[in-house]
Amino acid sequence: MLAGTGALVRSAVPLAELTTLRVGGPATVADCATTESLVATVRALDAAEVPVLLVAGGSNLLVSDDDVASVVVRIATEGVEFGAGSVTAEAGANWDGVVAASVRAGFGGLECLSGIPGSAGATPVQNVGAYGVEVDRLLRRVRLLDRATGEIDWVTPDTLAFGYRTSRLKHSDAAVVLAVEFTLHPDGTSAPLRYRELAQRLGAAEGETRPAAAVRETVLGLRAGKGMVLDPADHDTWSAGSFFTNPVVPDAEVDRVLAAIRDRLGDVPVPTYPGVGGVKFSAGWLIERAGFAKGFPGPDAPARLSTKHTLALTNRGDATTADIVALARTVRDGVAEGFGVVLVPEPVTVGVEL
Ligand code: EPU
Repeated sequence: MLAGTGALVRSAVPLAELTTLRVGGPATVADCATTESLVATVRALDAAEVPVLLVAGGSNLLVSDDDVASVVVRIATEGVEFGAGSVTAEAGANWDGVVAASVRAGFGGLECLSGIPGSAGATPVQNVGAYGVEVDRLLRRVRLLDRATGEIDWVTPDTLAFGYRTSRLKHSDAAVVLAVEFTLHPDGTSAPLRYRELAQRLGAAEGETRPAAAVRETVLGLRAGKGMVLDPADHDTWSAGSFFTNPVVPDAEVDRVLAAIRDRLGDVPVPTYPGVGGVKFSAGWLIERAGFAKGFPGPDAPARLSTKHTLALTNRGDATTADIVALARTVRDGVAEGFGVVLVPEPVTVGVEL
C-alpha cells in the first residue's frame, strides 16, 4: 500500500521510543523524510481507509500501552529557510532548532518559545505558548494538506480559530500541517516581555524588549529550573510538558471557586490571570494546594509529579501509559474535590481516556 510513497515502513515499533513521556505500545510506523512522501503516504492510507496517527516530536501525546490500531505516520521533514523577515519550517523540523537558528540569524520574535519540545508543525495545532507569547501572534501562514480533498494550500491564521492551547487543527484529523511560516523582527529585538518572572530576570519593565539572544538564554534557564527542557538524564523532563491546561473558570463560577479555596486554605493569595470569558487559574497551584506535592506520590512510584513542577506528570524510567493515566485521574479528581475545578488534559490521547 505504501510502495512508491517514499516512506520507510517499520513494524512493531514501541511508541515509547517516539514520545517524550516515553510510554506507548507498538505500532507500524511509516517514516516520511520529505514533504512529498508525507503527502503521498497520508493520501495512500486515506484512500485505503487505514486509520492514521500523525507523530512528529511526540511531546504532546499519550498513547495506550496496547497495540496501536493506526499506522503511525512519522513526520521527519527537517527543512528550515529564512527570508528577509521570516522563517519557513517544514512540519517535522525540531521546534527549538528553529528558534535557535532564528536567534542566531539575528531575528527576534520567537525567543520566548525557546526550549519547548516537539516539532514546528505542531506549534499551530495547539497554539503553543510560553512566557507571554503564543505562536498565533507571529504566524504568517500554515501549509495544510486537506485530507478530504487531497488539496495542498497555504492558509492564514484568521482561518484557524486560535485560542488558549487550541485551534481548529486540534482534536481533528481533517488536515495535516506540512509547513509553517513566521514573521520575525529583522532587528533582532525580542517580542515585548509580558511575563513578570522573565522581565524581572532581565531587569526589564513589562512590555519592554531586549536582544532576542539574551531573552532566549533566560527563558532556557527558567524552563530548565522547572524541568521543562528535555534532558535524557533527568526524569523530571520525561513528560508531556504541562499535563493539564490552566482552567478558565467562567465569571459566574469564580466566587464559588474562591470560596472553596478559602474554605480549605484560609485567606491565601491566589494566582489568577484574565482569561477569555472568565478567570484563568493556575493548574500547578491548584494541584499543589489540593495536596499533591512536587514528586507525588513518592520516590518508588513509576509515574510521579515532577519534583520541580506539579503540572508535569513524569515517567521515572519504567512507567506505562496506565501508570500515567492513573496518576492523572488521582490528581484531576483531587483538584475537583478540593476546589470544584475539573482540569482538562493538554496532550492528545490515543486509545486511552481519563
Ligand atoms: N505553581 C505551583 N506549584 C508548582 C508550579 C507552579 O504552585 O509546582 C504555581 C505558582 O503559583 C506559579 C504558577 O503556578 O506562579 C504558574 O506556574 P508557571 O509559571 O510555571 O506556569 P504554568 O501556568 O504552570 C504555563 C504553561 C507552560 C509555559 C509556562 C510559562 C500551560 C498549561 N502551561 O505553565 O507551557 O511554559 O506557563 O509561560 O499553559 C505546556 O503547555 O506544556 C507548557 C509547559
